[in-house]
Amino acid sequence: MQSKSPRFLWGTATAAFQIEGAPAADGKRESNWDRFSHTPGKITDGHTADVTCDHYHRWHEDLKLMEWLGVNAYRFSICWSRVLPRGKGRVNQAGLDFYQHLIDGLLDRGITPLVTIWHGDHPQELESAGGWLNRDMIAHYADYAGVLFERLGDRVRHWITLNEPNCFLYQGYGDGLCPPGHTDWKLAYQAVHHALVGHGEAVRRFRDMRMPGDIGITMSCMQWSPATDSAKDQRAAELADHQNNLWLLDPLHGRGYPELYRTFLGELAPAVRDGDQDVIASPTDFLGVNYYQNMHVAAGTLQPDRAGPIQAYTTVHKENSPAAFLAGLKRLNQRYGPRTFIVTENGLYKKDETLAEDGTCDDHDRVDYLRTHVAALQDAIASGVDIRGYCIWSLMDNFEWSAGFTARYGLFFTDYPTQKRVAKSSARWYRDFLKEGRL
Ligand code: FCB
Repeated sequence: MQSKSPRFLWGTATAAFQIEGAPAADGKRESNWDRFSHTPGKITDGHTADVTCDHYHRWHEDLKLMEWLGVNAYRFSICWSRVLPRGKGRVNQAGLDFYQHLIDGLLDRGITPLVTIWHGDHPQELESAGGWLNRDMIAHYADYAGVLFERLGDRVRHWITLNEPNCFLYQGYGDGLCPPGHTDWKLAYQAVHHALVGHGEAVRRFRDMRMPGDIGITMSCMQWSPATDSAKDQRAAELADHQNNLWLLDPLHGRGYPELYRTFLGELAPAVRDGDQDVIASPTDFLGVNYYQNMHVAAGTLQPDRAGPIQAYTTVHKENSPAAFLAGLKRLNQRYGPRTFIVTENGLYKKDETLAEDGTCDDHDRVDYLRTHVAALQDAIASGVDIRGYCIWSLMDNFEWSAGFTARYGLFFTDYPTQKRVAKSSARWYRDFLKEGRL
């Protein structure tokens, strides 16, 4: 690999709420996702993440999976409600211990931890006070990040402030698919704005504390393409790209909110205070890129009664496309760079994946997906994009938010009733690739 980094990070990724379970263990209090997933009608089949992969009790076993794979990196997130059960104030040492042990276990095995500070979940107490709609959340979040820097910063060298505010907050406030379940786009843009300021404040805290290592943010970076060549569909794709990518990426890189989209949003645009844009644009060390698919969009039907971006385009087709992955990485590097990237998520979703009679799981389509996307990653690096790592979503099947357990992304099949993890063909493929160092 032609990476400038001494050691390219090859990893897998997970998130606390999706794998840990143990919602009330060792002083943890309720989170926004605990509340939401227990609300009837919110999650497919009424599932909850109360047990999910039971990683809180089985993390030792899960470290062995990583060792078997031969990865040298692991991206995971910290559950705010374990560390600061009320969101602020007294640190819950037992909750913090869990992550300290996990991190030590990783380091003992030569696996670099990539720590996500916020991956969608935070204490319900903060949510009840308005969550990201309340400007106070910015300071609470920065304080929480400061606690992690102080307590874990001697061992962690890669920090990710937020995971996909462009999904979790749009879905939480605009689409109603994530907590708090609102469907009001004016709120969604305000929540996103506060989260971006929170990100910037955490970066500033990191620098003020003179922490060693790198800090960045992870964004969902799908490609948005017009379904046809028509001017209408091209405009739809331009708006979709603004909504989902540029609206957040531009301010993060010092360009402020893009004018084209601000005009489109009109009164839905957020209230911004003096100085916010400078905080948001605090320089980071890398951009975390989550990429899954190329979204083909057609012009939607604008409905004045439900004003919002969502009617500007309709997704007509989702395509697995390594070419779009490559093009997207190059575009990011050109528009905002040159700068450093870590691909923090990439993977293939399957519905109704099961174990065969003989207990195996031959996910050859996932192997194809991963092989072609790793090839695209290598092409991007060869073309000069400075990429330092790549994490497959996910280590094992887990609780896929509002889709519950109906979507599987794992390299390992999670047999939920027995909690057995079974290596799929894709796990064997990744292991061989990491051993041989080539596709
Ligand atoms: C991303 C999320 C991650 C997981 C994958 C499939 O949007 O960051 O938690 O759900 O999608």
